[in-house]
Amino acid sequence: MNKLKINTFKNILWLLKNQKQIKNWRKRNFTPPSPEFIKHMIIQNNNLENSAWIETGTYYGETTKILSKISKKTISIEADKSLYDLAKKKLVHLKNVELVFGKSEDILENSVQKLIGYKNICIYLDAHLCHDHIKNIKTFGEEKNATPIKKELYSIEVHLKKFNKVNILIDDIRLFNDQFQNYPKKNYLVDWCMKNEFEWDIEQDIFICKKYNN
Ligand SMILES: C[S@@+](CC[C@H](N)C(=O)[O-])C[C@H]1O[C@@H](n2cnc3c(N)ncnc32)[C@H](O)[C@@H]1O
Repeated sequence: MNKLKINTFKNILWLLKNQKQIKNWRKRNFTPPSPEFIKHMIIQNNNLENSAWIETGTYYGETTKILSKISKKTISIEADKSLYDLAKKKLVHLKNVELVFGKSEDILENSVQKLIGYKNICIYLDAHLCHDHIKNIKTFGEEKNATPIKKELYSIEVHLKKFNKVNILIDDIRLFNDQFQNYPKKNYLVDWCMKNEFEWDIEQDIFICKKYNN
């Protein structure tokens, strides 16, 4: 098979794999949240070379698998015991993945500290109360404390200077309007970036903070 045919074949496979997500997104007039494969592309596009990753909120481990492929080491934190146990079994073959059980607001600082020594660090903040689409129940969390984002950002601040480059991706930026659960306004994130000398941007439904120390 020549290169053109191989590429056409790959494109068809890609379309088949993602067609359900694309169809559903079209039904929603391409409003956020974007399908999982788009989030995964944004994550991959914002990877740093020689980087370790931390994810808060493992859920079913689909993003953890992607992070494991692009990073030297991935730590993923999950507070829901049954989801944590399931991910432990499912991802046992991924040797560069460490799954940690507990609340990210309690564990994140220690996880960042463990990764000092890696040149760069990327952090995907995605821990929050959500709907378990398989069991049809709520995951860990309660409405009034649904997102630990403020505490997570606070605990990251301490170690920022210990890495050359830091990328932080915060999912679900559409919810940051001070009107839903305990999500703060988008300005809270912008102010945090200014205070800690991060550049920021938004891609689809993800808020992205970048800090390059050298
Ligand atoms: C939206 S899902 C994460 C999706 C996952 N990152 C992915 O990309 O597939 C949110 C997860 O965060 C977990 N969670 C909720 N509050 C948490 C907290 N304070 N600390 C750690 N995990 C939490 C929930 O149990 C749920 O599994």
